[in-house]
Amino acid sequence: MSIVFLDDSYVPMAEAKISPMDRGFLFGDGIYEVVPSYDGQMVGFVPHVERMNNGLAAVDIAFRWSTQQWKEVCDNLIEKNGSGNLALYLHVSRGADTRRFHAYPEGVEPTVFAFAFEIPAEPVADKSKVTGYKVTTERDLRWERCQIKSTALLGNVMHFQHGYEQGANETLLYNERNELTEASACNAYIVKNGVVITPPADNQILAGITRHILLDLLRKEGSIPVEERALTMDEVFDADEVWVTSSSKEVVPVIEIDGKAVGDGKIGDIWLAAQTIYSAGKLNY
Ligand code: PDD
Repeated sequence: MSIVFLDDSYVPMAEAKISPMDRGFLFGDGIYEVVPSYDGQMVGFVPHVERMNNGLAAVDIAFRWSTQQWKEVCDNLIEKNGSGNLALYLHVSRGADTRRFHAYPEGVEPTVFAFAFEIPAEPVADKSKVTGYKVTTERDLRWERCQIKSTALLGNVMHFQHGYEQGANETLLYNERNELTEASACNAYIVKNGVVITPPADNQILAGITRHILLDLLRKEGSIPVEERALTMDEVFDADEVWVTSSSKEVVPVIEIDGKAVGDGKIGDIWLAAQTIYSAGKLNY
């Protein structure tokens, strides 16, 4: 049975209850994180907690836990739920108010919820063991504060659903200038002439922890040049390789966009090198 953490207690999932007046429920008024863990070892734990604290500050939720406090909850959830391939979902909403009123209420205790769920086995740098993604594209119709990891994800959910209905694994998004932003739940990259290029970490994307780790490792390793700059969709369609990244998926090659093959339609060598570098270095974050 799945044991979850809710407001200082560990309880079976079926017994975890929140108020319907919780602003997370009424307004999507909260911040969340998803941290991968393999055999009890979390990847990017400290930057995930830092991003959560930055998100909470950005929306004026006066709740901060240290990395040690979050680590205790994560370690307990791992222990109580079996330490295989897990993601730890961490969520802080502004809390339950007595009325539905848009302004931030005063004197309301934030709701803290965390649970663990199973994820696929740790990705490996092996072309024969990875399934390339087929993706669709759509104009990015989310809000202009995508750097905040808000629980208000309906825009992302709708973008994902539209691709999913067409049999796609993800939906790549582009802005009004026809520039790539990210995917509905992943960051996005192209490779052209051996250079890895990804959109800059501005308000149009969530600055992914996987993105941070990957770019840092690639720069330190030094053999693959990295650029952060705006990318037009023409460049995306003309790329040699396209990848998406997220915490539980790491680096995923994209082999088809809107029914057209990426490059030669095969998983690329730069992907292989990048996932190899990521696998070797990720536990240092
Ligand atoms: N999604 N961009 C968006 C919009 C995301 O939702 C995510 C992660 C990412 C990648 O971030 P990271 O590398 O920190 O996982 C980029 C999570 C996993 C989710 O909502 O389930």
